Amino acid sequence: MRQNPLAYLDAELTALREQGLFRQLRILDSEQKAHASFDHASVVNLSSNNYLGLTTHPRLRERAEQALRDLGVGSGSVRTIAGTMAIHMELERRLATFKKTEAAVVFQSGFTANAGTVSSILGREDVIVSDELNHASIIDGARLSRATIKVFPHRDVDAARSILKALPASQRKLLITDGVFSMDGDLGPLPGLCDLADEFGCVMMVDDAHASGVFGKNGRGTVDHFGMHGRVDVQVGTLSKAIGALGGYVAGTKSLIEFLYHRARPFLFSTSHPPSVTATCIAALDVLESEPEWMERLWANTRFFKAGLQALGFNTGPSESPITPVITGDGGLAMRLSDRLFAEGVFAQGIAFPTVARDKARVRTIVTATHTQEELQFALDAFARVGRELGIIG
Ligand SMILES: Cc1ncc(COP(=O)(O)O)c(C=O)c1O
Repeated sequence: MRQNPLAYLDAELTALREQGLFRQLRILDSEQKAHASFDHASVVNLSSNNYLGLTTHPRLRERAEQALRDLGVGSGSVRTIAGTMAIHMELERRLATFKKTEAAVVFQSGFTANAGTVSSILGREDVIVSDELNHASIIDGARLSRATIKVFPHRDVDAARSILKALPASQRKLLITDGVFSMDGDLGPLPGLCDLADEFGCVMMVDDAHASGVFGKNGRGTVDHFGMHGRVDVQVGTLSKAIGALGGYVAGTKSLIEFLYHRARPFLFSTSHPPSVTATCIAALDVLESEPEWMERLWANTRFFKAGLQALGFNTGPSESPITPVITGDGGLAMRLSDRLFAEGVFAQGIAFPTVARDKARVRTIVTATHTQEELQFALDAFARVGRELGIIG
């Protein structure tokens, strides 16, 4: 009889179970909303990236429905063959205006935007200088590029400087950071890094996946928040989080975008978005411009909830954004906290190694613009009860 050549995977899964780190996927059986039904349980949802509540916004829904009716369900091709529709170009023009750049290109996801860009604009001879907590898609893009990767300690501009100083002046180099770090919710030190990029002639790249729709005027991101327009060569954003739909984009000069049209592998070799997704994203940009109240509510809720967790005595790390981690250290404890909260009607995902370092496990919370104060207070009360029960707070 044939032996199962994948049997070693079972051993890995058993080890995960023994460590309390095995996760069943939670199934969302309602719309993605601030109060939602997961696994048939009605819960306050603190786990989505739906910052502004746009996944169910009526204007986005209407535009998606209209595009479905007018343009069909799929694009039928990759962008470089027959899959560039007029609506794709319209979204790219809108994103360039939004990000105040010459041009923009849309990818299937934020992941492919990062990985496809880093891997195509750099090669074997080049150096990538990267924050240790940058997103996995940046790391994968860096590996695919075959460039030398030099990692600096989290947010440490001086350490990045030392790395750059040791490189030959003629060396082509990319300096790259997340705008908002997805697990800790802190901000990349853009002013300091942009100064370094100027001093050492680096290509400067920022991944603003968690900042677009959240920071800066009308949600333009951390580049706008820090007043760094014109100093960041490659701005990446996602359409999958605050924008409420799906996709990623790169904004920059016309030459950068034309180069990516020719060389970014996800652009060349994977089918473009259905027109309904693209129409949804255009409608989301309209909402960001004309309904600033969503961002205002997001920030009011963020302040309320963060202050509540801190007053209870939880370790919320260095967060400066709506992402607020509740750090437990131990992975098993993070998962128990998450499970007990769920039983109490609050969904906050436990996150452990390899997504975060082994001793930095946490439950990660994200409030949205559409949570009510009552829902957030309900969640804080549950955190207080369960946190005491598990000995995380006194
Ligand atoms: C910092 C960061 N960059 C990029 C991505 C990828 O974005 P997307 O979900 O659109 O692929 C994510 C999402 O998980 C992220 O957190």
